[in-house]
Amino acid sequence: MRWDILTLFPGMFAGPFGESIIRRAVERGLVEIALHDIRDQATDRHRTVDDTPYGGGAGMVLRAPPVVAAVEAALGDDRGRVPVLLLSPAGRVFTQRVAEELARLPRVALLCGHYEGLDERARELVVTDELSIGDFVLTGGELAAMVVVDAVTRLLPGVIDAASLADESHAGGLLEGPHYTRPAEFRGRGVPPILLSGHHANIARWRRREALRRTRARRPDLLAAAPLTDQDRRWLAELAAEDAAHGTQSAEGEEHPEE
Ligand code: ADE
Repeated sequence: MRWDILTLFPGMFAGPFGESIIRRAVERGLVEIALHDIRDQATDRHRTVDDTPYGGGAGMVLRAPPVVAAVEAALGDDRGRVPVLLLSPAGRVFTQRVAEELARLPRVALLCGHYEGLDERARELVVTDELSIGDFVLTGGELAAMVVVDAVTRLLPGVIDAASLADESHAGGLLEGPHYTRPAEFRGRGVPPILLSGHHANIARWRRREALRRTRARRPDLLAAAPLTDQDRRWLAELAAEDAAHGTQSAEGEEHPEE
């Protein structure tokens, strides 16, 4: 997969893309990341990319000419075939489902917004979709673009172990349950005995039930949309009955109910 990232601050990407899994994916040719400096397309002496808003008001607006030129220069003849996604707090919310959709595409361009916003004509001319990574405001689209590249790249074939992807939080619409590793006892706290039993089917059932417990406690909104089996529904009914018996309502008391 190829990413074209249009930004005023290409230097910001060196750290996150130069380490760990993304770095290895780039080195192995599983993903290609091209950074394009929007400022390279400014034509005036001072290389200005922003200007004051028509009609007045606070802040600056990213000018249309350098942005449109940058998209055209980056995509060349492929323009029109490559989605151009603007990162902005006003976009469609980026979720694991959107990451899965993007991971099926051969090439995606990300346009990092800055200042108070992007001239509307540039948005109309080159932007095909707008993504937000959450209901908060960043200083610019760069960190959001890094989040999108990271979440999508790890889904590409060969980047990480397929079994890890299958079990992780959000994969099946649920949060993952708790994990444990050695030592078997730490500061007086043990490990759920079933995990030491070696009985794989029972362990899988326990993990599913714990995933349901955690999702019910922390993100009931996810539970409402998750694909559930009849067995899942029976477990959820049991968990609700446990809560009723303890007089609790599934807050975050799930892990150590005896405390
Ligand atoms: N730019 C500023 N805030 C943002 C957000 N929440 N998501 C994506 N891009 C942004």
